[in-house]
Amino acid sequence: MTKILMDTDPGIDDAAALALAINNPEVDLELVTTVAGNVTVDKTTINALKIINFFGKGNEIPVAAGAEQPLIKPFEDAARIHGASGMRGYDFVGDLPKPLPETAVQAMHRVIMASDEPMTLVATGSYTNVALLFSEYPEVKSKLTRIIAMGGTLGRGNMTSAAEFNVFTDPDAAKIMYQSGVPIVMVGLDVTMKALVTPETLAEIETMNRSGKMLHDLITSDGDQSEAGVSIHDANTIFYLLHPEFMTTKKLWIDIQTEGPANGETVADIRGAYHDGKTNAEVCVDIDAEAFNEWFKAEVQNMK
Ligand code: RIB
Ligand code: CA
Repeated sequence: MTKILMDTDPGIDDAAALALAINNPEVDLELVTTVAGNVTVDKTTINALKIINFFGKGNEIPVAAGAEQPLIKPFEDAARIHGASGMRGYDFVGDLPKPLPETAVQAMHRVIMASDEPMTLVATGSYTNVALLFSEYPEVKSKLTRIIAMGGTLGRGNMTSAAEFNVFTDPDAAKIMYQSGVPIVMVGLDVTMKALVTPETLAEIETMNRSGKMLHDLITSDGDQSEAGVSIHDANTIFYLLHPEFMTTKKLWIDIQTEGPANGETVADIRGAYHDGKTNAEVCVDIDAEAFNEWFKAEVQNMK
């Protein structure tokens, strides 16, 4: 059992990642925190509560709301992809549990320091909460085994040709996170755009059970579809957590561009030439896309 906390901006693919973490018996999801990203933080918080409530975990998995905007950059959402609510496609019913009265940073600090073993931080939104946490409570760093972060790219971006959304949203926070010294697994577009959920997989999960129907309806409403399928970017963090054997990684030094036209670019020292051989990230550079689809179907099959 791996103890994790997830910092998220649900978001259709964040919802898939949450569903996978909530339902896998090897994962102990102790806290969910939310951040402005795909949509405003009030909506990402409601969406996290909706997913947790859907699986009947409202009394077990707490949610704390976090940053309303990036550290410096003006906030830009991705509602065009995820819908105005942030989770277009499925009508969640039922009264929602309340979020914690604490801020995300306060809750992250409390949970991490109270844990009897080091925790894994899974980050699937911008890294604003993570940067604020490390700035305000640096002592948490020694209690984290690693950060598995969806974000960045060694290749083409999805917000500009250089920058991926999570890093683009708050490059200054990403820079703080990548300079924190906490081991980082970078799950970027290099793998998330390869492991597309295929139309065949979507057709199969639709009729599997209520969870499959919900995930099907959300994922097929994602505004970034292609004939080959659709990426549920954030779900790849949970796939790496549970099945790193299906990913190829390279240890690299990653710098973050924080100004100019390439603002938000994750720049890799690919020859190891400028940092005395030091690296700050394990970067996912390849993935078994078929294994991802088979895993996703099996996980959904086991959901209720
Ligand atoms: O670039 C993809 C990332 O941006 C995902 O985390 C998605 O949810 C959006 O936040
Ligand atoms: Ca996200």
